[in-house]
This record gives sequence, structure tokens and C-alpha cells, in this order.
Amino acid sequence: IRLQAKSGLLHGKKVIITAGSTREALDPVRYITNRSSGKMGFALAQAAAEQGAHVTLITTVTKPAIYGVNQILVSSTQEMFDAAIAAFETADIFIGAAAVSDFKPEKTDHHKIKKTGDSGLTLKLVQNPDILKTIGQHKTHSQIVVGFAAETQNVEAYGADKLVTKNADMLIANDVSRSDIGFSSDDNSVTILTRDKQPEFLDRAPKITIARHIISRIVTL
Ligand code: CTP
Ligand code: CA
Repeated sequence: IRLQAKSGLLHGKKVIITAGSTREALDPVRYITNRSSGKMGFALAQAAAEQGAHVTLITTVTKPAIYGVNQILVSSTQEMFDAAIAAFETADIFIGAAAVSDFKPEKTDHHKIKKTGDSGLTLKLVQNPDILKTIGQHKTHSQIVVGFAAETQNVEAYGADKLVTKNADMLIANDVSRSDIGFSSDDNSVTILTRDKQPEFLDRAPKITIARHIISRIVTL
């Protein structure tokens, strides 16, 4: 049993976190997704709850309950978008840790797609709404918005771009080209970017350790 802190640096604060990989249905039995496991989002939820926050975790994967964390299960980007926008209205902090599918099929078939002769299949994908960007555009002065950047090259530079384009207060740049960290791993190594401080590189460590450090940096904002 993990008891929620009765005090703590985020006591009474409402924190919204997205986690996992969204799924875009092609038909009732198939979907497009990515390699995110949701572990970083769950670690952040635990770290925020340890500091006394009321956490709403909007997630595509279920894991054992964490005291102080209310899990909302979603599947598609649109579902995650709707849940996140609604929850953010009364929130103090938003953390976008989900690996959101940038594209979705233009249409979802109601029935299983069948093969036709020997021919292949061309899929047309359209762009999904950007949850983090929308929330960044609508935040008030008292709300803090934190995003992630999943990059395979120029990690810090692309992360710095996203800090600005998403109107975020903090951006966690994540090198997802390394197989020892990031997607599905229990460890991570990230660079924390903010508007007014030098980038802070965090060497490889368990995701819960990284998460606790990120939460402590959010507290200083
Ligand atoms: N994100 C989001 N909604 C989307 C796409 C991304 O909320 N439709 C969020 C992610 O949760 C993450 C941040 O935006 O916090 C950056 O995601 P990333 O995939 O690195 O960047 P994109 O803006 O999607 O740009 P690209 O994938 O083209 O690099
Ligand atoms: Ca993306």
C-alpha cells in the first residue's frame, strides 16, 4: 500500500498526465500504433502523487492502481484529446507523456477489410489533432504545460523548437533511437528544456528516478 502524501510539494494540485501509445483503428480488428509502453507516464503519475497531487492519468494502457491517481482509459488520439481538454479546464499542470499517433486512417471500416484478388492496399492517412499544442494555446498564466519530444536525431534542437511551437513551459527531450532507454525500457535518459534555464541532461536512470526529478523541476516553475 502506498499512502498519498498529506503534505508534499504538489499538495492539492490537480495534475493531468497522458500516457501510452494511441491506437487508430483501420477496421474492427486492426489498428495503427507505436512502440510506447506508457511507463514514463505512469512513473510521472506516481511521482506527482507522492508529492500530494490529485492525478488524472489519461492512458491507453492499464497498470495496477496507484493511490491518488485516477486512470481514464482511452484508445484513439481523438478520445485522448477529448478527455485531456475536458480535464485541463480545472487543472494546474498538464504533462503530455503519451506517444500520440500523428496520423489516423481517413476512414475506419465498420467491417474487417477483405483482400481483393492479388492486389495490395493503399491507406490514406490524415493528421490527428495536436493535444499538447491545443492545451499550450489555451493555458492560463497559472497553468503549467509540459511536453515530451521523441527524437531520433538533433534531440536538443528539435526539443527546443517544440518548447516554442507547443507554447510549453517545459519540454522533455527524449532520444528514442537508443534501444537501452526510452520506448518500452524501464530506464530513460532525457534533457529538460525550459524557457529561462540552461538545458539539464539527466543520465540513464530508472524511469521513476527521472520522473521524480522532472516533478521537482516542475515544482520550481
Ligand atoms: N503530441 C500531442 N498530440 C499530437 C502529437 C504530439 O499531444 N497529435 C504531444 C506528445 O504527447 C508530446 C509532444 O506533443 O508531448 C511532442 O510529440 P512528438 O511526437 O515528439 O512531436 P510532434 O509535434 O508530433 O512532431 P513530430 O512527430 O513531427 O516530430
Ligand atoms: Ca509526433
